Parts: sequence; C-alpha cells; structure tokens
Amino acid sequence: MEMSQACTLWFTGLSGAGKTTLANEVAHRLREGNHPVFVLDGDVVRTGLCSDLGFSLEDRSENIRRVAEVARLFNLTGTIVIAALISPLREDRARAKFIIGPDRFLEIWLSTPLDTCEQRDVKGLYAKARQGLIQGFTGISSPYETPETADLVLDTSWKSPNDCAERILELVNPV
Ligand code: PPS
Ligand code: ADP
Ligand code: MG
Repeated sequence: MEMSQACTLWFTGLSGAGKTTLANEVAHRLREGNHPVFVLDGDVVRTGLCSDLGFSLEDRSENIRRVAEVARLFNLTGTIVIAALISPLREDRARAKFIIGPDRFLEIWLSTPLDTCEQRDVKGLYAKARQGLIQGFTGISSPYETPETADLVLDTSWKSPNDCAERILELVNPV
C-alpha cells in the first residue's frame, strides 16, 4: 500500500498480545520517517471518547464503530492510524473495514496464545478474571473470534518487538 494513501493498521488480539507495545513502536518508527501517524488505543479511548462504554459485546461493538469512524477521519487528513483494540468479533472488524474503506484497512492479528498472554499478565487482569473479580474477560469468559482475513499474523511469544515492528512496516510500505 502506498504511503500517500493514508491507511489504518488495525491491531486485533487478546489482552497482553502486544497491541499497545507494537502500536507505539510502529508509530515511533513511522514518525522517524516523517509520516503523520496517530494511535487509537482501546485503553486510551475508553478514558474519553468511549468512557460511557463497558465490556458487553454491544458496548465493544460501539467502541469499535466509534474508533473506526475516527480512524476514517484521520485517514482523510493523510494521517496513518494504528488502532489497537481487542476487537474480538469478526462482524465488528468487518464493519470497521467497511467504515474505513477496504483498500485503506490492514488487519494485523497479534495471535499470541492465551497462555502466553496470561503469563505476562501485564496489568494483573487475568488473575482478577480467574478469581471472578472481572466478568466477561476476553479469552476467559468472553469470546475472541480468530481472524480469517488477516493481512498479517504475528505471534509475539517468540519474537522481539523490534522484529514484529519490522514485519508490520514491510506490510505498510512494501519494498
Ligand atoms: S474491545 O473489546 O475492542 O472493545 O476492547 P478494548 O477497547 O481494546 O479494551 C481493552 C482493554 O480494556 C481493559 N479491560 C478488558 N479487556 C477485555 N475484557 C474485559 N472484561 C476488560 N476489562 C478491562 C484491558 O486493559 C484491555 O486492554 P489491553 O491493551 O487489550 O490489555
Ligand atoms: P496489549 O496492548 O495487547 O494488551 P501490551 O503491549 O500491553 O499488550 O503487552 C504486551 C507485553 O508483552 C509487554 O509487556 C511487552 O513488553 C511484552 N512483549 C514481549 N515480546 C513482545 C513482542 N514481540 N511484541 C509485543 N510485546 C511483546
Ligand atoms: Mg493495550
């Protein structure tokens, strides 16, 4: 995909799969190349734009829809967007692709297995979910539908963030 046509890199995957880490790393590298880029991270949009939403499948769907609409607007200004949302359902990801425009949308599945994500437990949320302190946690008590249409699949459990970022950048700007 040509960089002149600003695209959205849509990162999907379980909590702890590496979405935030890689979104920030890829954004950093794109900025170094003077490309305008903006990260829309689930944890961040949920403090503002989507602060009225929880984690029911309905609320997740609305969260994803809003982020897709914002991504579309950023892309129209020429800004590359990296959306880092769990986005667990195929239907919601397909709608995001439709909103943004199929030719501008790259689906990147961080396929890191649940056991790795749970071992990382970056925020202690898996432990809480296992104890029943968090209801409807993705991968434990709420579904994650694996992508069938991903443009890139990366299991971060055996690769460095640097290697993963390079793979993603190759996809954005093929040489
Ligand atoms: S979604 O499904 O796309 O709307 O989720 P998203 O907006 O990406 O938000 C995921 C972050 O919310 C925190 N969190 C939870 N995740 C999953 N399930 C439940 N029940 C939940 N409760 C809170 C968590 O920090 C997620 O961030 P990541 O970066 O994925 O760990
Ligand atoms: P998410 O946003 O999907 O919940 P995070 O980026 O918050 O995931 O957490 C991923 C964790 O895994 C971080 O602690 C990060 O340092 C670690 N990690 C190890 N290898 C990788 C990799 N190749 N890519 C991304 N994160 C990795
Ligand atoms: Mg995150």
